[in-house]
Amino acid sequence: MADRYLSFTATAPGRFLTARLGLPQPAALSRWTAERPSLDGHLLHLTAGGPSGLDLAPVLARTGLPTATEAARSTTRSTTGSTTGSTTGSTTGAATGSTGPAAVVLDATGVRDVDALTEVHAALHPVVRSVAASGRVVVLGAPLDARDHHQAAVQQALEGFVRSLGKEIGRGRTVNLVRLTDASAAESTLRFLLSPRSAYVSGQVIGVGAAGGPDGPVDWDLPLAGRTALVTGAARGIGEAVAETLARYGAHVVVLDVPQAAEDAHRVAARLGGSALTLDITAADAGERIAAELPEGLDVLIHNAGITRDRRLVNMPAERWSSVLDVNLASVLRTTDALLAKGALRTGGRIVATASIAGLAGNAGQTNYGASKAGVAGLVRSLAPRALAEHGVTVNAVAPGFIETRMTAAVPLFIREAGRRMNSLAQGGLPVDVAETTAWLAHPASGSVNGQVVRVCGQSLLGA
Ligand code: NAI
Repeated sequence: MADRYLSFTATAPGRFLTARLGLPQPAALSRWTAERPSLDGHLLHLTAGGPSGLDLAPVLARTGLPTATEAARSTTRSTTGSTTGSTTGSTTGAATGSTGPAAVVLDATGVRDVDALTEVHAALHPVVRSVAASGRVVVLGAPLDARDHHQAAVQQALEGFVRSLGKEIGRGRTVNLVRLTDASAAESTLRFLLSPRSAYVSGQVIGVGAAGGPDGPVDWDLPLAGRTALVTGAARGIGEAVAETLARYGAHVVVLDVPQAAEDAHRVAARLGGSALTLDITAADAGERIAAELPEGLDVLIHNAGITRDRRLVNMPAERWSSVLDVNLASVLRTTDALLAKGALRTGGRIVATASIAGLAGNAGQTNYGASKAGVAGLVRSLAPRALAEHGVTVNAVAPGFIETRMTAAVPLFIREAGRRMNSLAQGGLPVDVAETTAWLAHPASGSVNGQVVRVCGQSLLGA
């Protein structure tokens, strides 16, 4: 169902009226299109807390965004320079004239004490207003140092900073924190966050390990070429969008759905040049059947199939409880175990499961669903290190917030409106937002992203 409020606020009278009434004013988000694959503008690279030791400039240069200083002279691709916090304001003004940056990367990995934290303010205070609509602020932090509570305190402070800035920045702009120790291992993550693909990801803290960068050269246009991806529940909704996006990235996609959805599954598979597999994922032998269907193995496994059977606990029959737990959690555990045990996931493989912010924050009427989705997050965190060590496979989850699908179109009007507006971007996400985030986690260059649960929720107020 179309978001009429979003369309209304895009008109001049709509903007005027909603501003007068103090109502939310969502900005139309710029999403990826083949015609506009990157952000429109330049990137400003700032540092707080002194030099960090990260070799960031070449990685940022490869995002294709020109730097602040070079943007003034040229609109062609060029290398990225760096500016320290204290000199930021004048440099930005001189470099960019009237146009603000499309993206700001603040390297705060060297911040180790409260004094250095003031440089975070000094760096961003003068520029934040000028960041373009649908622009990006990415703060880089270091892992918390267990032996230095001053460093841990100020690095943790960056999380509160990022989440607060995300809530106030407005105009479709996002703010995220990446904790890293190696810039090149974080290249796929930085490219994702500094692109229109991450339009609905804000207020997130993403940890990127040092190891697991790409082994060989990466084809950034078709990163999944030659790879096989299986998406459960892909006959419609978010799963269909995931299948579509992975196919756009070059994967051969296997569209798995229940036999009742066979027609849709075959239609999606045919459109994407993939194949369909009709199977109830709760079948005890689902993993074995997938493995038999794909004797050569697979590279990407997306656990997307999910159901809701909402009732408050006092009114919930056992059947509603167990059917949700079975589809959303038990089948994910069973098929993952079976496929890993059979060695069906090739080295360099990726597992991405679908959680939900209802599992992270809790939601009235969804004790079954919330439990199942929190379980997915637990599975990811526990299995990720072992799956990487033993099978060379990463395990992550996406946790969608309010996404415009058939499922949410059926939600009563008032609750639907609340779901759409109660996030920093004041609108629902689209299936493609979850799909692009999934594709980043499934990327061959994302081997250093493991055990993460990344919300795709526009920084929802739920459980924020
Ligand atoms: P949907 O109901 O539109 O699609 C789910 C698909 O899974 C359907 O094609 C269905 O036939 C399939 N499926 C269900 N049970 C299955 C089984 N036992 N075996 C194989 N396939 C099965 O749902 P939607 O909205 O696309 O959600 C996709 C995932 O995202 C689910 O895991 C859901 O919990 C999660 N999610 C969705 C949100 C939203 O706002 N739509 C928010 C948060 C999470």
